[in-house]
Amino acid sequence: MNESEIQNFWNQNPCGDFQVGGLQQRRGDYQAFFTDYDSFRYRKEAHILQCLDNINFKDKQVLEIGLGQGADSEQMIKRGAIWSGLDLTTESVDRVKTRLLLRQLAHQSVKQGSAVQIPYDDKSFDIVFSHGVLHHVPDILAAQREIHRVLKPGGELIVMLYARWSLNYLISIGFVRRCGLLALYHQKRDLGGIFGQHLANARAAGIRRYLHMDNFIHKNTDGPQNPYSKVYDLRMVKKDFSSFNVVSSYKKFMHAPPLPVRWLPLEHILGWHLWVHMQPV
Ligand SMILES: C[S@@+](CC[C@H](N)C(=O)[O-])C[C@H]1O[C@@H](n2cnc3c(N)ncnc32)[C@H](O)[C@@H]1O
Repeated sequence: MNESEIQNFWNQNPCGDFQVGGLQQRRGDYQAFFTDYDSFRYRKEAHILQCLDNINFKDKQVLEIGLGQGADSEQMIKRGAIWSGLDLTTESVDRVKTRLLLRQLAHQSVKQGSAVQIPYDDKSFDIVFSHGVLHHVPDILAAQREIHRVLKPGGELIVMLYARWSLNYLISIGFVRRCGLLALYHQKRDLGGIFGQHLANARAAGIRRYLHMDNFIHKNTDGPQNPYSKVYDLRMVKKDFSSFNVVSSYKKFMHAPPLPVRWLPLEHILGWHLWVHMQPV
């Protein structure tokens, strides 16, 4: 797995862009786009704001890794963070710089680069925050070493990773989506859309290989073109983040499309988002 493939994917599919109709379709009206994106994000994933409220950002040197549209960046700055950012793609960096400028949000710097080679000095941050990013980094051992390097002693790493023990992974991706694809596989019609892309992937890779969970997982978290995703339980977190001790963890977000599970009061057991707070060893 080559990082430029991952970079190309995120450059061409800026996180959440299509879900609110796309920045290009707004004729570059950034303000309207950010407003729509943020209200969509925090309506769908309202727990994020509550989680951020529970973290003390005030006057802390914070590095955010993996910025997407910069929605959480704005929230952290508004909660008092002395904020710096890093993203693999120029698309995200440009969007976030525009957001910070338009909304006059005080910050330190925004850099383009990778979590596996962080372009910031040793021991410069109290908090490294990374939501929905590090499960897309194949060389996670290098990334966690780099995060350890830039954190001050006694600092904190806060991540959201996809949860293995979740309704989404175990039932939706592991069973419903695989059965659905198998049932559609012999369709001769061109189905188009997301099903059509999965069918094209399956035909290119071979159906047995495509449906193997080690492969299928990549194509079922952030769209069928996504090159790389990993799902975590706490044992795997401890293994992959070996320079850290886990301080606390919790699961959020009942999400298992196409199953209508939003209302199920089971997010703390089977939620899709595993938040983990860690401290450097
Ligand atoms: C799924 S989006 C998450 C964005 C945002 N944190 C959120 O929750 O919406 C993943 C983001 O991480 C960035 N990314 C992926 N791999 C990265 C890496 N190795 N280093 C830094 N950023 C990375 C992508 O460019 C993309 O903007």
